[in-house]
Amino acid sequence: MSIPREAPAPKQRLTEQRLTEQRLTDERVVVLDFGSQYAQLIARRVREQNVYCQIVRHDLPAERLAELQPKGIILSGGPSSVYEPNAPKCDPKIFELGIPVLGICYGMQLVVEALGGKVQHATHREYGRATVRISNHEGLFDGLADETDVWMSHGDQVAEVGEAFEPLAETDTCPVAAIRHRQLAVYGMQFHPEVTHTPLGSQILHNFVMTVCGCTGTWHLGDFAEAAIEQIRAQVGDRRVICGLSGGVDSSVTAALLYKAIGPQLACILIDNGLLRKDEQAAVISEFSNHFKTELHVVDARERFLDTLAGITEPQEKRRRIGYAFIDCFKAEAEKIQDAHFLAQGTLYPDVIESGAAKDGPAATIKLHHNVGGLPEQLGFELIEPLRDLFKDEVRRLGAELGLPETLVWRHPFPGPGLAVRCLGEVTESRLEVLREADAIVVNEIKAAGLYRQTSQSFAVLLPVESVGVMGDARTYENAIAIRSVNTDDFMTADWSRLPYDLLARMSTRIINEVKGVNRVCYDISSKPPATIEWE
Ligand code: XMP
Repeated sequence: MSIPREAPAPKQRLTEQRLTEQRLTDERVVVLDFGSQYAQLIARRVREQNVYCQIVRHDLPAERLAELQPKGIILSGGPSSVYEPNAPKCDPKIFELGIPVLGICYGMQLVVEALGGKVQHATHREYGRATVRISNHEGLFDGLADETDVWMSHGDQVAEVGEAFEPLAETDTCPVAAIRHRQLAVYGMQFHPEVTHTPLGSQILHNFVMTVCGCTGTWHLGDFAEAAIEQIRAQVGDRRVICGLSGGVDSSVTAALLYKAIGPQLACILIDNGLLRKDEQAAVISEFSNHFKTELHVVDARERFLDTLAGITEPQEKRRRIGYAFIDCFKAEAEKIQDAHFLAQGTLYPDVIESGAAKDGPAATIKLHHNVGGLPEQLGFELIEPLRDLFKDEVRRLGAELGLPETLVWRHPFPGPGLAVRCLGEVTESRLEVLREADAIVVNEIKAAGLYRQTSQSFAVLLPVESVGVMGDARTYENAIAIRSVNTDDFMTADWSRLPYDLLARMSTRIINEVKGVNRVCYDISSKPPATIEWE
């Protein structure tokens, strides 16, 4: 899929070893990733049908693919042109496996190129909404009206499909918008059913997965939890596992799963780096003791982190230093836990995919995420990552199934480097205090307005500027706070939340009145891209 910003190269590091580690569930659909930003979205949409979906590298040999016993194969979009010399291709033998294939955008062009037809550069690059006219509803388009809106994003398109294919749909500018092979269960569509801008996209994917591939939707998170618990027990035996807690949903669900599997063999470490939100340390400790009857080590490392951050204003350097300090503190505490053999991490599926991209594409160099990778190698523990097949929303549902409280399960994500990346400029205790108080007001007001669940992340940012104001009769020269609130499905793209003016007014008044040292509040109305969610 071509998109209006730099697209990543195809991701090469979804290793074959991972595939053999995977539990073979009854029903699975496999997505071959040709470098689409939206391969993850395809997987999510398929999982919404209760069918397990896994993303694999695009050039996985057909024999290896067959070993996974998928019920269907989806070829993702991608930024390349099929006729370029080094364009990523799939093993052509996958079309001979007798497994239904759906090619999306670049994936469709590959299908046509492999099985007879012609792809060429479109006279007009098409990006945005389009209306498709469907000429054959059987299979993919079952239950859809004759015309439906879809999202297009392509520079190339299929010019001729030849005898082998039957065209199923067209748009004004794209005469071959969807196709079906006349002999094989191979389909293609030029538009993107996985994005929400194609309103009936989920129905189309449902039709592919259920009607064409014959899945019945047997994959459930409850089964996942049971299997994960069994697997953890088998792997751990009678040894001990350490889990770092941050108060976030990922580490809490990881700990809950481990606790269910191995009880007191689990020991948790909470590093108070002084970069937590207001009252967060106490909240994590109280939630922990309500749910787990096992060891919790709380490390007061506030000074250590403040020292290492003193005088540092450059965002990447802040992250680097926080990463090192975190490893040091964690290591020192872990040594106190006897017989610890494993380290558990709340790595999620998008982290797995993105860390793959980090080696090969530009996507992951935007920010250094200190908690992905690095830690385990330096500590010398064997790694357990029970959530590495799940998306964030699935982790939340799993947390609820495991009995974690709603307040925890639905907590907004908080970055590993904490308030440091929201305290622009130098990180000092007094500046953190201003930020913490302002942030607490933002979150409390969002909750009071009943909008906490409807926004994905809402927080305050302390800007590195002071500005002139007037309070009473006196001139002031004080800090400015930015409020950031975003809505997003996947945190890879995000839009700013349309918060009511009255709510923004209340936040502003309260911050200026109650937080000493602030005389100005702004609201951040940038979307991602081109901005990011965090300011650093
Ligand atoms: P950006 O700012 O990249 O953030 O748009 C996307 C999501 O990632 C979170 N984030 C982080 N999470 N360690 C984390 O665990 C980090 O270093 C980090 N940086 C950003 C951010 O809060 C948002 O949810």
